[in-house]
Amino acid sequence: MSSRHPHIEVRLRTESDRSYRVMIEEGCLEKVPALLGRFAGGGRIFIITDSRVGRLYGRPLLRALAPLGIPSTMIDFPAGERSKNAGVLGMVQTAMLDGGVRRDSVVVALGGGVVGDVAGFAAATVLRGVRLIQVPTSLLAQVDSSVGGKVGIDHPSGKNLLGAFHHPSAVYIDPAVLRTLPETEFRNGLAEVVKIATALDPSFFRWLERHARELRPGKSGPLCEAIARAVGLKALVVGKDERDGGLRQSLNLGHTVGHALEAASGFTLRHGFAVAIGVVAEAAIARRMGYMSGKDFGRTVRLLRRLRLPVQVPRLRSRARFYEALALDKKGVASGVRFALPAGIGYCALGVEVPRRIVEEVTGIRE
Ligand SMILES: NC(=O)c1ccc[n+]([C@@H]2O[C@H](COP(=O)([O-])OP(=O)(O)OC[C@H]3O[C@@H](n4cnc5c(N)ncnc54)[C@H](O)[C@@H]3O)[C@@H](O)[C@H]2O)c1
Ligand SMILES: [Zn+2]
Repeated sequence: MSSRHPHIEVRLRTESDRSYRVMIEEGCLEKVPALLGRFAGGGRIFIITDSRVGRLYGRPLLRALAPLGIPSTMIDFPAGERSKNAGVLGMVQTAMLDGGVRRDSVVVALGGGVVGDVAGFAAATVLRGVRLIQVPTSLLAQVDSSVGGKVGIDHPSGKNLLGAFHHPSAVYIDPAVLRTLPETEFRNGLAEVVKIATALDPSFFRWLERHARELRPGKSGPLCEAIARAVGLKALVVGKDERDGGLRQSLNLGHTVGHALEAASGFTLRHGFAVAIGVVAEAAIARRMGYMSGKDFGRTVRLLRRLRLPVQVPRLRSRARFYEALALDKKGVASGVRFALPAGIGYCALGVEVPRRIVEEVTGIRE
């Protein structure tokens, strides 16, 4: 017998439909217990949340599930970005295993983007994946992180460096919960709304210019519309490019500079604020390189200001860390930093290589 073996192909082309629905409705949190009951079909529900959201919404949800006879467990961890690490992830995974997780169990990620990312990563990894439902409670999570399937944690070397793609089976968005969100966190989420409009939709951008002052947690009409338009755009992009191969990179607008600013501030700068400053810096780069007019640059800055978002590069703890992080941005490429730049309002130029000299000139950050 020959020692040569034929090549064996492992065929993986069968594509199952992983489409899911996003419900956006004022007050829909009250319907969530019944929806979960129908969805879980007897499987145990693991509500994963943080300390603050757990107190406000986790315990009431747990209490509402009990009379429906739905077996459920709540797992919580301290609120804040610092919890997005391997230690907390391990604690959540262990609590799920100790709590009798099975393949038919369901993880409910109830909280902001940190909870969505950690709970989603736990759902992706425990038993090689159990079903996930996102119930985002911060504006940032409602307009951005709960849709799209990216889950993960930070590593000492950088943000979001460990992760997976694990799409939810459903997303339930209740804008009413934003009334308890601290005002700073609300503005933090607005930055992602501006990002998505600047990158993808000139008419949404114009709508934001007209309705900026009405975007408040107590006023649900305009807010619901803004959330729905942002989610609609994200869904469209993710549907066309699930894994960041092309179009999805447009959602990275403001994030190349933004992530570097976050890192250089020792993660004291909130993500959304870093993104707002990043959008302005990248718009300035776009103007400098001839992709964007001075007029469109001015509109971008004015909209962010109207929403009381920062537009100026702050004093950084470490300028070296800024450039280090730019090269480390995992969406960058080894040969240099590539940006998604605004090419006018509502359009993006992808994969643009920007010389460091222009970044220095525009941000004023020189080592
Ligand atoms: N996976 C993705 O596609 C994606 C996209 C964007 C951002 N992210 C990640 O999201 C994270 C940021 O998310 P975030 O800004 O929501 O931060 P967060 O999850 O830390 O929430 C911010 C704060 O608001 C509190 N909170 C949340 N909802 C509340 C409510 N309704 N009432 C009162 N308090 C409430 C939280 O307890 C927390 O203290 C970052 O780690 C970022 O990397 C992920
Ligand atoms: Zn972001």
